[in-house]
Amino acid sequence: MKLWAGRFSKEADKKTNDFNSSIATDSRMYEEDITGSIAHATMLAAKGIISKEDSVQICTALAEIKEEIANGTLLIDPNAEDIHTFIEATLTERIGSAGKRLHTGRSRNDQVAVDIRLYLRKECDALYELVEKLIASIENKGDEYKGAIMPGYTHLQRAQPITFKAHLTAYVEMLKRDLGRLADAKKRMNVSPLGSGALAGTTYPIDRAMTAQLLGFDSYTLSTLDGVSDRDFCLELASVLSIIMVHLSRLSEEIVIWCSWEFKFVELDDAFSTGSSIMPQKKNPDITELVRGKSGRVFGDLMTLLTVMKGLPLAYNKDMQEDKDAIFDAFDTVKICVDTLIPMIDTMKAIPENMRKAAAGGFINATDCADYLVSKGLPFRDAYKATGEIVALCIKSGETLESLSLDKYREVCELFDEGVYEAIKLENCVARRGM
Ligand code: ARG
Repeated sequence: MKLWAGRFSKEADKKTNDFNSSIATDSRMYEEDITGSIAHATMLAAKGIISKEDSVQICTALAEIKEEIANGTLLIDPNAEDIHTFIEATLTERIGSAGKRLHTGRSRNDQVAVDIRLYLRKECDALYELVEKLIASIENKGDEYKGAIMPGYTHLQRAQPITFKAHLTAYVEMLKRDLGRLADAKKRMNVSPLGSGALAGTTYPIDRAMTAQLLGFDSYTLSTLDGVSDRDFCLELASVLSIIMVHLSRLSEEIVIWCSWEFKFVELDDAFSTGSSIMPQKKNPDITELVRGKSGRVFGDLMTLLTVMKGLPLAYNKDMQEDKDAIFDAFDTVKICVDTLIPMIDTMKAIPENMRKAAAGGFINATDCADYLVSKGLPFRDAYKATGEIVALCIKSGETLESLSLDKYREVCELFDEGVYEAIKLENCVARRGM
């Protein structure tokens, strides 16, 4: 039996019913739906809109329903229209008219808006914790290989010497900004829409500040139309999640590259790699490739949300039911990516010898050689040119800046002396830059 049976003379068509139903997606908000209803019923009684007895009966039965769904003794009906309908119907089945009083002064429009916010608040906290753990893993990895020197790249060409730790620290900084964005979006979302009703509030003397406070919201929405139709928080969170995935995809891409035989800067633990069905020698960094790929999925969720919301007239429209699939998927995806990366990074071995070898080729200390000439009084542009000539000379004779004799150096510029070898030592280059 539908909520709106009074107005209708026919049952819904079965396919239409399935099409209209959101239970498969929103049943995961059952706890939040019940928490919101308990706060609403408590407020209704406090304001004398329903009796204390009814409120107690409602709250007790709702707590039982929550418990039973959690322990599996109450199964959610897959044919229900949505979780709100299912819980209200179950409640009414159990306690009769008291249950029918719960929805006084409320609409499913403000109800669902409360539920999503409560649910996403929890998701934000869970993700925040995971990202913090990932940050710790990356920091620990850097510390584990403290003095390891590697080439820093621009254009994926060896540029200047850095440490492995300095490279990883860049990701720590990205993820810290992500945490800031997540906390900021959560704060803006933490406003109660309850009391907005269908769109125009309610004529009952409800206490919106009370329900907001009971539910841990910082305040309540001032416009009731906006309260039921705002999904900015989904857009904002999906943007934050997309940026996180950009960062994870960059880290993943680097790990893919570092795992290749051409680089071999790192080796993933066997437990976090996969093999090939045909090539016995293969050990593939599938996890990182999947994270890279799943970033596309999260960006897709963001696009879904933007497109669903674009051009919607006020206030609630059923289009908005599509919000949950997208934002839940985005959270699920980012959480599983972060959670999978943590142990993979924890067990990842770096190979400092290979990093060092790569850093020793490619003249990545050429800038330091030029800076050395500057310290001898040469203007930088002249020092740059002289060093360029030396690099060309080295390439021609198969030498490196380290192996080139002082005589050869001095043929290009008289200012060179023994000190140049100290100046271009990779350890010194890195130390001078505080890397
Ligand atoms: N399942 C709906 C949603 O997720 C709940 C709100 C229904 N409101 C309505 N007026 N049909 O958006």
